[in-house]
Amino acid sequence: MKDIKKVVILGAGAMGAFFATRFFDTDECSAAVIAKGQRHEKLKSNGLVVNGKKYAIPVIHPDEDISPADLVIVALKNHHLPEAVHDLKNLVGEQTTIISVMNGLDSEEYIGSVYGMDKMLYAVSVGIDAVRQGNRINYTKPGKHFFGDAINTHVSKRVRKVQDIFSLAGISCETPADMMRMMWWKFMVNVGTNQASAVMRAPYGVFQSSANARALMEDLMREVITLAKVAEVQLSEKDLDDWYTVLDTLSGQGRTSMLQDIEAGRKTEIEIFGGKVVELGKTHGIPTPVNQAVLRIIQVLEQGR
Ligand SMILES: NC(=O)c1ccc[n+]([C@@H]2O[C@H](COP(=O)([O-])OP(=O)(O)OC[C@H]3O[C@@H](n4cnc5c(N)ncnc54)[C@H](OP(=O)(O)O)[C@@H]3O)[C@@H](O)[C@H]2O)c1
Repeated sequence: MKDIKKVVILGAGAMGAFFATRFFDTDECSAAVIAKGQRHEKLKSNGLVVNGKKYAIPVIHPDEDISPADLVIVALKNHHLPEAVHDLKNLVGEQTTIISVMNGLDSEEYIGSVYGMDKMLYAVSVGIDAVRQGNRINYTKPGKHFFGDAINTHVSKRVRKVQDIFSLAGISCETPADMMRMMWWKFMVNVGTNQASAVMRAPYGVFQSSANARALMEDLMREVITLAKVAEVQLSEKDLDDWYTVLDTLSGQGRTSMLQDIEAGRKTEIEIFGGKVVELGKTHGIPTPVNQAVLRIIQVLEQGR
């Protein structure tokens, strides 16, 4: 398998701009973003401004007849995936690896159903605090990015190539032996923190100081711990503690993406958090009353946007 020389990002928002500009800044590979219509025009004329630095990153159109990418990073919000996934049709070849840094449990399978699961690696990003306003993206913490095959007791050549290019781009990364457990851990964190923050309008500082805020977050997370067993993933109270070690390092004013969406009157990703928990609960006959209640509240808040 050849080294990664060409990286393309689908979804040049907060996360996508972080990756696109990190790869753009290396001499080791070329980086581009892909978009059509007005997004394409805007990206071409305005570029991206990341932590105050302006970038004129090449912009690809999905209908261009171009050679496949070595690595594609998908960084869309969940509700944009069905429409946008087909824009990669000319970029995915035999040797292409695709990573989705999107939250939730399902984007890998969704993209894999179009291009083949053999192209996919699983990924989650932890501790990055990227925020976007228009084409301006800011982050103070670049976070750590976990990816790999489902099981990595033996690390594949494909994963090693991606590790190499992430390291060259100065992106902190790790490949856990059990990637599915990592996916579920991040899912648990998102279900608890994003949703509790959105219903309470609470930045991270509230979770650092209020026992009641922590209790709501934990109740939401414990329903995920129960559901994980059905997927043969072992999560426990220790995993809650591991989240607190990350949470306590975050800025007290920092806001989850769901809270930012609610405050800005945007659609949230509720369907991949509470929506997914409730769906899994129904499928397996496991009660999920706390997620059910919070899901309803957030859907009401969304209707008011
Ligand atoms: N932000 C973080 O720090 C962070 C951390 C961990 C995980 N995540 C996850 O990463 C994912 C992306 O989050 P984000 O914060 O980066 O969201 P975001 O800032 O809203 O970025 C999404 C980008 O996708 C673009 N897009 C939508 N439809 C498209 C299409 N058809 N073709 C090309 N581009 C399209 C959007 O453009 P428009 O604005 O024009 O619609 C936007 O620039 C989410 O699943 C989120 O939960 C985010």
